[in-house]
Amino acid sequence: DWNMPDYISEAVEKIRAQVGTDEVILGLSGGVDSSVAAALIHRAIGDQLTCVFVDHGLLRLNEGKMVMDMFSKNLGVKVIQVDATEQFMGHLAGVTDPEQKRKIIGREFVEVFQAESGKLVNAKWLAQGTIYPDVIESAGKGKKGQTIKSHHNVGGLPETMKLQLLEPLRELFKDEVRKLGVALGLPHEMVYRHPFPGPGLGVRILGEVKKEYADLLRRADAIFIEELRNTPYEGAAMPGEEAPKNWYDATSQAFAVFLPVKSVGVMGDGRTYDYVVALRAVQTQDFMTAHWAHLPHTLLGKVSNRIINEVRGLNRVVYDISGKPPATIEWE
Ligand code: XMP
Repeated sequence: DWNMPDYISEAVEKIRAQVGTDEVILGLSGGVDSSVAAALIHRAIGDQLTCVFVDHGLLRLNEGKMVMDMFSKNLGVKVIQVDATEQFMGHLAGVTDPEQKRKIIGREFVEVFQAESGKLVNAKWLAQGTIYPDVIESAGKGKKGQTIKSHHNVGGLPETMKLQLLEPLRELFKDEVRKLGVALGLPHEMVYRHPFPGPGLGVRILGEVKKEYADLLRRADAIFIEELRNTPYEGAAMPGEEAPKNWYDATSQAFAVFLPVKSVGVMGDGRTYDYVVALRAVQTQDFMTAHWAHLPHTLLGKVSNRIINEVRGLNRVVYDISGKPPATIEWE
């Protein structure tokens, strides 16, 4: 059995013993793992921690503001926000291959992060939100010698960054990380968020990534998520688990995908010729296999109406009914 207050004080002592009076930097992504790591390390060493939050222009709607509000305003963590949208868009221009896009995003991320952290002369430690399954997965990958999709956020530390690694979540499973996050004062809503891939909307915009596409996708995605959160779930609970209260909690991952395809529509007296978004919602235990979620038709209908009425530039919404396998959860 897990005693949270004891766990936290032990973890805090361990971090203090490890880093002493050194400065630590941490790349905050807005995801659960890096957020919980930041909150824990901040609890241990306060202002010796500086977080760098890189906005690659491929984040969800209002994500930057949310991260800054929570960490900087509420928790008093030192956070440097870097708007690198232009840089990322520049390097992604003309690139359509999914793996190529991932590589570019991963590489630029390290680049921006290094440039920013280089300004913190004293930093001796790089903190990461690595959790136990990441450790296992990276080890397994080498043995099998195959990568289905390259995850850029594990083991991506370049040789040239002469920093020691601080990974206080290395022994924890996801559910433990979430409990720890809540105990450290992070809002339940953020700690129980669906996973979001490191390359962000970059792998949810098919083919070439453009700012115009990202802006449309962000708005469609926010409407979908809002409606999932606002629609009560009336189904049964999974064995041994609490019944989900709404469709957001009843799905493992849900998002919109931008299709750079135009189709014809009508709006008032006129004809439209605009882009399509696909909605994806899945249920899964381990993300290795997944079922598409049987969302209520009324929910899908409402999301579709809202997207088409509220987001000028989109005139068609489709729902993805593919399982994994053979489809993957993300479209790229
Ligand atoms: P797929 O699409 O392979 O996704 O069924 C399985 C899970 O992995 C996430 N995913 C990624 N996460 N970097 C990440 O950090 C990536 O490049 C990446 N690609 C997929 C995906 O969101 C899902 O949860």
